Amino acid sequence: MRQTTYGSTPKPLTVNELIAMKQRGEKITCLTAYDASFSALIDKVGIDMMLVGDSLGMVIQGHDTTLPVTINDMVYHARSVSTARRRAFVIADLPFMSYNTPVVAAKNAAKLMQVGGVQMVKLEGPRIDVVRFLVDQGIPVCGHLGLLPQLINQLGSYKVQGKEPVDAAKIIADAHQLQQAGAGLLVLECVPAVLARDISAQLSIPVIGIGAGVDCDGQVLVLYDMLNIGIGKRPRFSKNFMQDAPTIEGAIDAYHQAVKQSRFPTAEHSF
Ligand code: KIV
Repeated sequence: MRQTTYGSTPKPLTVNELIAMKQRGEKITCLTAYDASFSALIDKVGIDMMLVGDSLGMVIQGHDTTLPVTINDMVYHARSVSTARRRAFVIADLPFMSYNTPVVAAKNAAKLMQVGGVQMVKLEGPRIDVVRFLVDQGIPVCGHLGLLPQLINQLGSYKVQGKEPVDAAKIIADAHQLQQAGAGLLVLECVPAVLARDISAQLSIPVIGIGAGVDCDGQVLVLYDMLNIGIGKRPRFSKNFMQDAPTIEGAIDAYHQAVKQSRFPTAEHSF
């Protein structure tokens, strides 16, 4: 089949291009996005990936957790983001309880792709059965290990995961299983930097860190945290990029350059 190109509109990055970036040692940049205006700005700066995160439940909707976010909320925001992007790879979260069985997950992931226009869906935890089923249906999946915000009522607080050797070994084993099940990317949240470094080195798929040290294949931050406009206290692993930038575009560019040049995160933002 012949590929169609429309004028000079750049084609969105593919997961294979992200894997190639990992192979050549080029850091992958990612920010969360929830609307068309920020999507266009983030894309213009050249950020490689945008995540329509269920963090929108906290930073957009004002809830204390991500749990109240529905699949319809996610589809609405995913559609706004994907409509305005040109080059960035777009992922959206499957929200709490929207992937409790493989069939339910496939139905909801299909909404995110067909209506929301995203290229990949992300789900939290070692849900190997669900990941394998989605991949078999042709749905690209990003895993998410370490701190799992959708489990906050079991965890009790948003704390670093994988500090004890037994917990670190479980995260490593889960990461390998997710890759074997067909996950195309992995997000590691709030884990010790050495653990994230080892997992990034062991996996062939790109590992994107948040609070996981500088040795991941890429970094993601919640947009509102790095612009210092979040409601609560900024997490230690984030940084106020508005501090030295005259504009929002400048702050996003400073983050992009800092990640590409391995200047962010520093030890101050790592565990
Ligand atoms: O929802 C979100 O924004 C996320 C990131 C914190 C990785 O999952």
